[in-house]
Amino acid sequence: MTVAKYFDEMSYGPAPEADTEAREWLARHASGFGHFINGAFVPSASARSFDTFEPATGKVLAKLATGGAEDVDNAVAAARKAQASWARLPGHARARHLYALARMIQRHARLIAVVEAIDNGKPIRETRDLDVPLAARHFYHHAGWAQIQDTEFADHVPVGIVGQIIPWNFPFLMLAWKVAPALALGNAVVLKPAEYTSLTALLFAELACAAGLPPGVLNIVTGDGETGALLVGHEDIDKIAFTGSTEVGRVIRERTAGSGKSLTLELGGKSPFIVFDDADIDGAVEGVVDAIWFNQGQVCCAGSRLLVHEGIADLFHERLKRRMQTLRVGQPLDKCIDMGAIIAPVQLTRIEALVKKGVSEGATLHQAKIDMPKGGSFYPPTLLSGVQPTSIVASEEIFGPVAVSMTFRTPEEAIQLANHTRYGLAASLWSETIGLALNVAAKLAAGVVWVNATNLFDAAVGFGGKRESGFGREGGREGCYEYLKPKAWIGRKARPATPAPSPVKPAAGDFTLSTIDRTAKLFIGGKQARPDGNYSRVITSPKGKAIGEVGEGNRKDIRNAVVAAQAATAWSNATAHNRAQILYYIAENLSGRADEFAGRITAMTGASAASAKAEVDAAISRLFTYAAWADKYEGVVHQPPLRGVALAMPEALGVVGVICPPEAPLLGLVSLVAPLIATGNRVVVVPSEPYPLSATDFYSILETSDLPAGVVNIVTGSAIELARTLAAHNDVDAVWAFGSAELSAMVEKLSSGNLKRTFVDNGKATDWLDRAAAEGALYLRRAVDVKNIWIPYGE
Ligand code: NAI
Repeated sequence: MTVAKYFDEMSYGPAPEADTEAREWLARHASGFGHFINGAFVPSASARSFDTFEPATGKVLAKLATGGAEDVDNAVAAARKAQASWARLPGHARARHLYALARMIQRHARLIAVVEAIDNGKPIRETRDLDVPLAARHFYHHAGWAQIQDTEFADHVPVGIVGQIIPWNFPFLMLAWKVAPALALGNAVVLKPAEYTSLTALLFAELACAAGLPPGVLNIVTGDGETGALLVGHEDIDKIAFTGSTEVGRVIRERTAGSGKSLTLELGGKSPFIVFDDADIDGAVEGVVDAIWFNQGQVCCAGSRLLVHEGIADLFHERLKRRMQTLRVGQPLDKCIDMGAIIAPVQLTRIEALVKKGVSEGATLHQAKIDMPKGGSFYPPTLLSGVQPTSIVASEEIFGPVAVSMTFRTPEEAIQLANHTRYGLAASLWSETIGLALNVAAKLAAGVVWVNATNLFDAAVGFGGKRESGFGREGGREGCYEYLKPKAWIGRKARPATPAPSPVKPAAGDFTLSTIDRTAKLFIGGKQARPDGNYSRVITSPKGKAIGEVGEGNRKDIRNAVVAAQAATAWSNATAHNRAQILYYIAENLSGRADEFAGRITAMTGASAASAKAEVDAAISRLFTYAAWADKYEGVVHQPPLRGVALAMPEALGVVGVICPPEAPLLGLVSLVAPLIATGNRVVVVPSEPYPLSATDFYSILETSDLPAGVVNIVTGSAIELARTLAAHNDVDAVWAFGSAELSAMVEKLSSGNLKRTFVDNGKATDWLDRAAAEGALYLRRAVDVKNIWIPYGE
């Protein structure tokens, strides 16, 4: 080739990163890796192993141990032994360990980046410039949290032993996201890397040893989904943190239901990438490259659904296709490539099948006509345009380098299309009009929104989804809380037995007793409503005297209440000031009728006049507290070391089912409902089953307090039966259930359908008069999801 020809073509030659050090490291482990337990590599007790392959060549890379029950037991036991003394270390000492790990990563950055590129198939440019530096940043950032833990999280303690299960798309970065906060805050970890990509985790174990991390604090057990399941099911694990597919997330939710384990799930997505007609088109085209061809599209928050304004769709697609033509697919270690290999042949087959399906559904296929490497699992950058919003490729996560494209006409339609998904992980939107961009950002159902950017991550900025993209946040202050538990809840005892529910009595045909017309009805959509079944139940005093009747709500009543709550969206959009005013008003109205409410509590429960008065007074004070919080529970502005800032905004969950505890009939209800409505949620409440009359009396307070219809709906009846319907309902976003252990287990299990957030007490009693345990940020945090909106700011 002549120099002139080079200039003419401007084509790159390969520029491979040296892999000598990485291959030597692999050669040192040619006989296979064991598990990393109690500070040392040990052979697998299962005596089973499996091969891990190089995606770019299909060749065997290393032999890995398959963790069996005994291996998981050993790892958990080592973690348990180490955790107490690790947690007792002063925060400063733990911070020093995390700094040491961060430095270790930086010092060995090149080796890690090369091993990662070989093992995963992603371009070295990405591992070198993103995965590894960001992993180091996570350790530095969380070293900081360890340092200030005693003041910033003074009322919390570590969760304990954490089982962490991570996927193959960001093997080292996901390790850092999980391990750094867990260790920083005093937990011990058993990590299971993905079976395709365990090598950088094992390399990290060696580095942690060299950095002097105490034995047992970090344990790594390799294996497949079966090993993961053993970890999930292990009795001595206090928390599971999982990143991976929604299907497995759902299984884990079911398996941990009722176990008392805390759980965070970071699952799949089908994130919209919205381009308005006033966008910087070239910027947005470059955005698509980062959104869907970064990491071969194997990114949970990949901008995989392009929504393009109709007026610019042709121009946009034309420029996008031109850009696709310049992308380079090649060997992961070549510094000049844009895309590497797909993780495994099975994944490649899945991508091919989904693309075929898209074409059969009428989409237009465009694939860049570029040189493709031979051998290994490679797939070209792909665009499916003219996709119908209802088609499979518009709703299923393809998890490959495939963008699907649709058009819209108005911002409202863009929002509708964007939110037309069961997921809610991320969204990217492009517009030069600040008003439009921020207006739309607020309306997108996503845990992360990028304005004129995509796929930005930082340790200080929380990451996590809504809906079936899972729950919990990683990174930042909110991510820290996922690895802590409140001191105020430690040592809670099992709830004492409450009176058996009153018998249900048919109203129809019974002429001797009071009829349904005299029964307190249900409260749905701001109106008193007859129960659908026309049944009621008698409420008796402790001495067995009938003191009232309540309606026996059923499934249909719950569904009606959910419809009413769904419709009350104005409450979530109301100003916090407005919500505060109404809560003050409710408090004042209750205060005016305090004696009457106290009398009712005594009549139902037999409580002394003094303790009934104390309950009512506490309920009034609590309403004032949440009125006060309504306009003070606010977000923060993160300033990550990247372009722009991130607004971390608490956002209402939506419609929340609330099963009130049997005890404290008024205070229990107020303690759960007030934080939820203060933060903008709408609720369907099942009051105390044995003592529901405080709740039915409460209707009249709500009716005279200007609370909009549908914000609070109350359905009396069997707590467990009504909870069953709420937990399984697809239009309910969260369920808070306080009562028996059986109730908690059922709610957690049934919540797996749409992966709703749950807040349960596992049958442990709360002292509702104790403000530390029953009021404030502990509840407000559970009432919201933090949405992180990245916006350009400054240069
Ligand atoms: P996966 O969800 O099966 O695997 C993720 C991790 O969970 C791995 O470590 C795996 O060993 C473990 N695991 C599997 N079954 C388990 C079980 N029953 N209990 C406990 N742990 C278990 O993901 P997979 O099979 O690798 O990929 C399948 C699809 O999942 C992909 O095509 C993609 O759509 C999606 N995915 C999404 C990810 C995300 O970050 N959202 C990451 C990886 C995959």
